Amino acid sequence: MFYRKLFVLLGLLASMYTYTFAQSIQFDQQSRVFRIDSVGVTYAFGVNEENELQTLYWGGRLGSNDHLGPAQANQGHASFDLPSGSTRQEFEGWGAGLFYEPTLKITFPDGNRDLVLHYIDHHIEGNTLNVHLKDISRDVLVDLKYQIDPETGILGRSAVITNKTKEPLLIEQAAAATWSLPQSTDYWLYYLTGRWAGEMNVQHEAIRPGTRLIESRRGSTGHQNNPWFAIERGNSGDQDTGDVWFGALGWSGSWRITVEQDSLRQIRITGGYNPFDFGYQLAPNEQLETPVFYGGYSHNGIGGASRLLHRFEISKVLPQAPKPRPRPVLYNSWEATEFNVTEQGQEELAEKAAKIGVERFVMDDGWFGQRKDDHAGLGDWYVNKEKFPVGLKPLIDKVHSLGMDFGLWVEPEMVNPDSDLYRKHPDWVLNFDGRPRTEGRNQLVLNLARQDVRDYVYGFLDKLLSENDIAFLKWDYNRNWSEPGWPAVAPDEQKKVYVKFIENLYSILKKLREKHPKVEIESCSGGGGRVDLGILRYTDEVWPSDNTDPFDRLSIQDGFTYAYTPGVMMAWVTESPGGANHSPRSIEYRFLSSMQGSLGIGSNLNHWSDADFASARHLVSEYKEIRETVQHGALYRLISPANGSEQSATESVAADGSQAVVFGFLHSSQFGYPYPRLLLRGLNKDAQYKLHWITEKPGGKRPETASGAYWMGHGVDLDLDGDFQATAFRLDKER
Ligand code: DGJ
Repeated sequence: MFYRKLFVLLGLLASMYTYTFAQSIQFDQQSRVFRIDSVGVTYAFGVNEENELQTLYWGGRLGSNDHLGPAQANQGHASFDLPSGSTRQEFEGWGAGLFYEPTLKITFPDGNRDLVLHYIDHHIEGNTLNVHLKDISRDVLVDLKYQIDPETGILGRSAVITNKTKEPLLIEQAAAATWSLPQSTDYWLYYLTGRWAGEMNVQHEAIRPGTRLIESRRGSTGHQNNPWFAIERGNSGDQDTGDVWFGALGWSGSWRITVEQDSLRQIRITGGYNPFDFGYQLAPNEQLETPVFYGGYSHNGIGGASRLLHRFEISKVLPQAPKPRPRPVLYNSWEATEFNVTEQGQEELAEKAAKIGVERFVMDDGWFGQRKDDHAGLGDWYVNKEKFPVGLKPLIDKVHSLGMDFGLWVEPEMVNPDSDLYRKHPDWVLNFDGRPRTEGRNQLVLNLARQDVRDYVYGFLDKLLSENDIAFLKWDYNRNWSEPGWPAVAPDEQKKVYVKFIENLYSILKKLREKHPKVEIESCSGGGGRVDLGILRYTDEVWPSDNTDPFDRLSIQDGFTYAYTPGVMMAWVTESPGGANHSPRSIEYRFLSSMQGSLGIGSNLNHWSDADFASARHLVSEYKEIRETVQHGALYRLISPANGSEQSATESVAADGSQAVVFGFLHSSQFGYPYPRLLLRGLNKDAQYKLHWITEKPGGKRPETASGAYWMGHGVDLDLDGDFQATAFRLDKER
């Protein structure tokens, strides 16, 4: 008995030891060095002789006895590069000769614009470190927050700026953090660019002296750039090898990430609020908290970096973290009916959707106000009685009777000038007094920074969800800002709109989720215009693009997964030929493209043949067998569809290793060139895996069961041939 107890105690101590060793935050008094360790990563900075906070190391995990520091300020290269600017600082005020991107820039009422931040003290608690800085003479306090994720080594960094002076001050620029990379001349940057219906293009370029700005000035995240970056040391050309540093901003308003190689060839990455047109007046005792800038490191290439981010999003960011429930198979009415929704028409679609195994039926735009097209109705969130004479209940009941839950489209932050809301409250939109109000899609942006607008938006959504049994909202946002004025407040307060708007958006989402905990939400902005780690704290999935062509989607989805987990990537099977491209694609091809993410169907089911229904039924049931792996597993990009590639292929491995799923696509083939053999990754080489074809079994000989070593070493031939061909299989690990 005694020995059993002793063993239990020793086991407990051993696990506590492993845990503390696996991840920790330490401060060495003597060298004044902070060291943050987590799986595979060490991050370190020190307080140098000038009392500046100086970055020392960010990269692979170091030995526990390895000493770093003490930090020593860079003395500058010449009289043209002054010490403070040449030193890699964690969070640098604009002052004392900084010629590069500052993390914080302030103008004081007396015209002084010099800000020099020095270390005061710090506080460590569990996974969190707070370091307090203060200007050398003025009572401006900056509280730097570091939060380390023990599972992925991803570090969340942000800052709280407090005005303890007796007068207001103007923050002209506020980033969350500056990251610095180890010295090298061979760094390669990845970032994401795009446009409406063409999101998430992966850009890859050598970092050269100078600055690369990735940003949005649009008031929201935007399609043009996405707030994510990754930097590889060297250009390995391989997805899964090499050192990669990466980061993503949790902010859905105007943002900027600056990647800079300074004149001493140091690489700094600074990210936060976009300083363009920024100006945050901070009253005495007031605070401004920046968004969080997350950063991580992978020794397993850009593929490894994506997998870490995916895991982090699933286990730490999403509203249902750490175990988000699998996304239900969804039907959406938009491409079938556009604005022409009616009770009968929707019920007919719902009956057909239920037959193929759909679990959630979503009615898109057109159900409210005087909404016949995009000229009217936004803002008037009452049910249109011509289309739904007694409200939504009959349709919702019907959907429930078919075994599905019900979702509804809304666009809460917008108003059409042709609406009761705008006629009553023309002052509720973003505008500059006496200036034109530029419309986009015949709509204006409500100024959500205003308390009355915020209350109105929360109020109608709360009422909608309280009065109807709604399981899901598709939250749309179909234009960017113009004339971002807020005339109702004092001129020096007006630019706060860039911060307050988004804070109110988040607070509405948070409050709605608290009051209606079963309701799930999709973030949509004319496709992928609002996808970021800020909105993903409150939304369960996103709509990556209005382009639903299954071939175009392969590239959009590929780019999407560099930063975001496939589980949040809603993907519909739509008409063929469709709105984007006019050549036909088979139903299998369309399904397999969508099955790489969260499967949805957006076709007009009234146009489907019996054979289409039979294929769809089969593929939906196959999808349900693999969705846990696809949505929450580890993704390997085997062949990229980028740069005009004829093929693309992905593999997902279940988090518990029990299954792998492979999708292969062929855009077009030339006579005599075979499809490359796929060498799988991430399997247990000693385990046995059984092959199961999701689509028709191709010709040729393959083993039915083989070891992980076989699937990874020998690989699989897909035998795809022709144009727009696709196939998929899964491997189930044998017990
Ligand atoms: C833009 C979205 O991206 C579409 O899916 C659809 O919901 C329309 N808006 C509706 O107006």
